[in-house]
This record gives sequence, C-alpha cells and structure tokens, in this order.
Amino acid sequence: MICVKNLSKRYGDFAAIHDISFSVDKGEILAFLGPNGAGKTTTMRILTGFAPATSGTAMVAGFDIFENPMEVKRRIGYLPEHPPLYLDLTVSEYLKFVGKIKGLSGQRLTSGFNSAIEKCNLGDVTGRLINNLSRGYRQRVGLAQSLIHDPEVLILDEPTNGLDPKQIIEIRDLIQNLKGEHTVILSTHILPEATAVCQKVVIINKGQIVAVDSPERLSSQLSHSERLAFTIAKKESFNAQKVLSLAGVTRLTEEPGKAGSFIVETQQGCDVREKLACTIVENGWGLLEMRPLTVSLEEVFLHLTTEEKGVQEV
Ligand SMILES: Nc1ncnc2c1ncn2[C@@H]1O[C@H](COP(=O)(O)OP(=O)(O)OP(=O)(O)O)[C@@H](O)[C@H]1O
Ligand SMILES: [Mg+2]
Repeated sequence: MICVKNLSKRYGDFAAIHDISFSVDKGEILAFLGPNGAGKTTTMRILTGFAPATSGTAMVAGFDIFENPMEVKRRIGYLPEHPPLYLDLTVSEYLKFVGKIKGLSGQRLTSGFNSAIEKCNLGDVTGRLINNLSRGYRQRVGLAQSLIHDPEVLILDEPTNGLDPKQIIEIRDLIQNLKGEHTVILSTHILPEATAVCQKVVIINKGQIVAVDSPERLSSQLSHSERLAFTIAKKESFNAQKVLSLAGVTRLTEEPGKAGSFIVETQQGCDVREKLACTIVENGWGLLEMRPLTVSLEEVFLHLTTEEKGVQEV
C-alpha cells in the first residue's frame, strides 16, 4: 500500500533524511520510532505531499506521490505534528468545513462527520469553540479531521502527543480498530506505543533507518546469545561448575537482588532447558522457576540509536 524507495531530503548541506526505504502492507500499522530530530515529520510531510523530496520515490495506494499528488491526497488522512485547527470555529463547523474541502457533500458528509465524531469521542463538544478546548480534545479534533473522508491511508504524526493517560489508551484503541481497513503510519518516541499498537516498527535516527522489523523480532535480534533465568530453593548446595559444563552454556551469573536466581547465557539456537532442568533436579537443588529472558524494545532502541552501535552489529 505504501512503498518508499531511497527517499532523501536535504536542507542546504544538511540531510534531514537520507536514503530511506520501507514498505507498509494494506491494513498494517507501522510505527516510525525515533528521537527528536530523527526525520519522522520530514518523511511524513513528503509522503503527504506537503514537502518535496530531494531524491527518491514513494508510492501510496498505487499512485506515485510526485506524479499523481492529487490522487494520493484523496486517499490519505494526515494528522500533522501541530493539528491545523481554526480556533474560532466550533468543532462541528470545522469538521464539516474540512469534509467539504475533501470533496464530501450530502449523505457522505453527514455519515463521515458522524463516524469521525463517534470514533474520536467528540459527541459532547460538537458545539464548542475549538479555542476553548483542552489540548487533548484539540488533538482528537485533529484526528477526526484526518478520518472524516474515510481514507485508505492514515499518516499520524505523534497522535497521542499531549493526551492524558486515559485518552492515550482510548486513542491507541481507536488506532488499533483502524487496522485491517486502513493502512496507518504513526510516529512516536514512546516505545510502549510502538509495541502496543503496531505490527511493524521502523527505527530512524539522524535521518537514517537503523532497523525495520516487528517489535518482537527487534527484541530478539539484539541478543547475540539466548538467556534463561532459573531459581532454585537450595542455594547452599548449588555447584556452578555443573551448569557451566553443560554443552552450549557460555556464562552463568547470579541475578542481582534475587536470592537463588541465576542467569544462564547460551550460544544462539542452543536450547539447554531440558538438560538444565535435569541437572537441577538430579542434584536436588529444588527447581522453583525457569524462564527465557527477552530484551525490551527500550533496550533495542537505546542500542540502535547510540553512537557506538548500529544495526550492522545486531
Ligand atoms: N524547513 C527546515 N529547514 C531546515 N531544517 C529542517 C527543516 N525542517 C526540518 N529540519 C531539520 O530536519 C531534521 C529532522 O526534523 P523532523 O522534524 O523530521 O524530526 P522529527 O523526527 O519529526 O523530530 P521530533 O520528534 O522532534 O518531532 C531536524 O534536524 C530539523 O531541524
Ligand atoms: Mg516530528
């Protein structure tokens, strides 16, 4: 549905984005994850036709964004970083105005309006001036204007920015409900947002993509080795050598702050669970727990966006 190839944008000598390529399938939700200044907004502005690219191509819903910008715009709903609101209109006046400039009229305008109001939970404020709304409600109005023409593709620049925790959950639910019918790209620096809502994550840093994968696969990519934690009841009789001598085990450490808990590192692809469990039982150490340790996306993110380490090493 969206295919971006070798997209670059330069401001003078400065490359805001450099050689970016990724794709999003129909019905998929993709997170653009990166720190401030990474190039998320720049990429979104190019995809929505608000800014030209210096080089590269992008297709949205089968149309080239540079050759057929109007066709692309018809199929895109865009929530910019700063929602484009007219503060002296009421919510209802504003949304109807936006619906009309997006080409809706009559029954299509009414149903688009009602559905956007319902999806964004704006029923109680339709008659209020946008100027008098709280920031979270303004954000919802911004989201409603992006949805009103029921676009195939939604591009949402930090959609939960400025919302309270309850509203964040509501907006995430809303975005999740768009999955399948709509194709969504959203940007965020909030890592749990990417894991909570998206099937695919593009991590971008200093204008370049450092990783593209599912949240789960990104976590497992990071660890060169696999790790298991186990807890035993009889720490006094534990013999580390017996565990270290198992084939595939590379390291054994105590889990900090947890008496009787240890972490075993093994070579990649080596499953020692069965042998380890037998060893613990045969030696009478009292196996209480055994679990695999996964790396959180936070760790991947920090790893991928620090100076020293790039995705090449992963
Ligand atoms: N019009 C412009 N002129 C010059 N530099 C620009 C312009 N627009 C963006 N940039 C630069 O391009 C880089 C990428 O900016 P962008 O807004 O895309 O980042 P972002 O990932 O959206 O960051 P944030 O998380 O803070 O919103 C930044 O260094 C920014 O200063
Ligand atoms: Mg931005």
